[in-house]
Amino acid sequence: MRIAVYSTHGFEREYLLKAAKEHHDLLLLEPQLSAETCSMALGCQAVCIFVNDDASAAVIKQLAMMGIKFIVLRSAGFNNVDLEAAAKNGIRVARVPEYSPFAVAEHTVALMLTLNRKLIKAHNRIRDLNFSLDGLTGFDMHDKTAGIIGLGKIGKRVAEILKGFGCRLMAYDPYPDKVWGEKHGITYSTVKDVFQQCDIISLHAPLTPETHYLVNKDSIQSMKRGVMLINTGRGALINTRDVIDALKSGHIGYLGLDVYEEEKGLFFEDHSEHILQDDVIARLLTFSNVLITSHQAFLTDTALHNIAQTTINNLDSFQRGDLCVNEVKA
Ligand code: NAI
Repeated sequence: MRIAVYSTHGFEREYLLKAAKEHHDLLLLEPQLSAETCSMALGCQAVCIFVNDDASAAVIKQLAMMGIKFIVLRSAGFNNVDLEAAAKNGIRVARVPEYSPFAVAEHTVALMLTLNRKLIKAHNRIRDLNFSLDGLTGFDMHDKTAGIIGLGKIGKRVAEILKGFGCRLMAYDPYPDKVWGEKHGITYSTVKDVFQQCDIISLHAPLTPETHYLVNKDSIQSMKRGVMLINTGRGALINTRDVIDALKSGHIGYLGLDVYEEEKGLFFEDHSEHILQDDVIARLLTFSNVLITSHQAFLTDTALHNIAQTTINNLDSFQRGDLCVNEVKA
């Protein structure tokens, strides 16, 4: 099968080519999928996309007219695909539901520790031969209350790591896994209680109409002053402007982001030669208690291998006409 692979980056090419072997002809494209770029898939039977590609109804309609039958995502999240439009146009969609929850969970905790122990500031100081410790005081994670919003595959791994630190854990999930919770000594609470009682709040829910701007002016107000907020889920789980106000007032004490609501067109690319046009991220970058990474929580060797392999397996299933276990439907 010939597949147009959009948004390909240097870090994933060798994994994709190795997994495809000679079974599939991968057309590795750097541009993102959009109404302007979908014609690049002419002559292909499938498109393979990533988190910031645009698979909205208008794009899907064009793809269907070009004979595209499958959309395979190299990601777990699929909020960028209009599933109803895909079904209407006879296009099947599959994702990689799990490639390494450990990778994302470990990066989440790396953000927490780096912020808490002010490692970036310490590193910069030492490179400047400044070995003083003033201003570098952190806090013991032990005995702190950490709240997980969305106790799914990644949230559970974060909970396990934090449990190892001796944190008290709270979780909110509308579909509680009570057996797992009991086994790991984690009680499910309301989202309100998690916001009110936690010293550290980590977001691992999918982006849906219900979770959009879950963290906003009002919910921040209910949080403890000085709270640490970490988002490795999806950017629009938080209202970034409200979070900036709370950083200015000191209500939010630490912010760790791996995702940003306006990351499309910004993250994954080198803009070092450009003038930054996004005033919101520009403001975020001025806070010394904010740490941003460019949607890299998944980026481990294991995860890249698993993403590539599952993507090719999904394509194989579609090509054979088999039931695809990773298919997503409206
Ligand atoms: P999952 O599906 O295993 O877990 C999500 C959990 O959120 C489920 O338990 C679900 O019941 C819960 N949930 C659903 N609606 C909710 C709501 N309204 N409030 C709170 N919880 C809710 O997914 P997984 O693998 O744990 O991934 C979670 C999210 O992490 C993905 O949706 C994706 O957006 C993000 N992600 C980020 C990556 C990164 O590199 N930064 C990589 C992979 C995923």
